[in-house]
Amino acid sequence: MKYVLAELSDLPAIRQLMAKYHRDTIAPEDMADGFVTTALSDEQFADLIVRERGVMLAKDGDKVAAFALAASWEYWQQVPIMQKMIDILPQMPAVDGVVLTRENTYQYGPVCVDRAYRGTGVFEEIFRASLREYAAKYPVMVTFVNQINPRSYAAHTRKAGMREIATFDFNDNHYWMLAIPTE
Ligand SMILES: CC(C)(COP(=O)(O)OP(=O)(O)OC[C@H]1O[C@@H](n2cnc3c(N)ncnc32)[C@H](O)[C@@H]1OP(=O)(O)O)[C@@H](O)C(=O)NCCC(=O)NCCS
Repeated sequence: MKYVLAELSDLPAIRQLMAKYHRDTIAPEDMADGFVTTALSDEQFADLIVRERGVMLAKDGDKVAAFALAASWEYWQQVPIMQKMIDILPQMPAVDGVVLTRENTYQYGPVCVDRAYRGTGVFEEIFRASLREYAAKYPVMVTFVNQINPRSYAAHTRKAGMREIATFDFNDNHYWMLAIPTE
């Protein structure tokens, strides 16, 4: 398995994996093992790949086995739930002494691992690879997990070492907010 930043030519494969596990298109029997909700246009995705260098892939040969998105708040502010997170950042507890701001934090996620590769360590590896990309620029990474996605919460807290720093509500859904120092 190799962990590499996505190029524009990877977009069709990323879209295919996203559609498989997106809340709007996921098979009902897959729902219990987690889903993603973020929706991006092709233009937004291209911007994320090229300008933000924010799409980490796990590639098994040519196959995209997993992706992990990450970007600055400047990029994410166009997505309504991210704007909510920006608004509540000042109320968050400090993480390892770092008072969280929109300048010293960034948002990672969604992450998505194809079912065939779950529980194999690909999740931990792609998480670390994504974190490493941003470590030089930001001391703290934050993310959110829907409270009806306990598998993602378990993976991020038990396997990736993230800490729950808050809960919040958005559009009738309940979320955990998690954080981790990047170093
Ligand atoms: C969430 C996701 C990235 C995690 O990767 P993964 O490879 O499945 O993670 P792992 O299997 O290594 O770890 C998940 C842990 O949660 C546990 N788990 C599974 N189902 C669970 C549930 N319903 N409730 C609580 N824990 C659960 C597993 O047992 C495992 O822990 P263990 O290895 O100690 O037994 C992956 O499942 C996925 O892509 N899901 C679909 C998309 C998604 O939900 N993305 C996250 C959006 S925030």
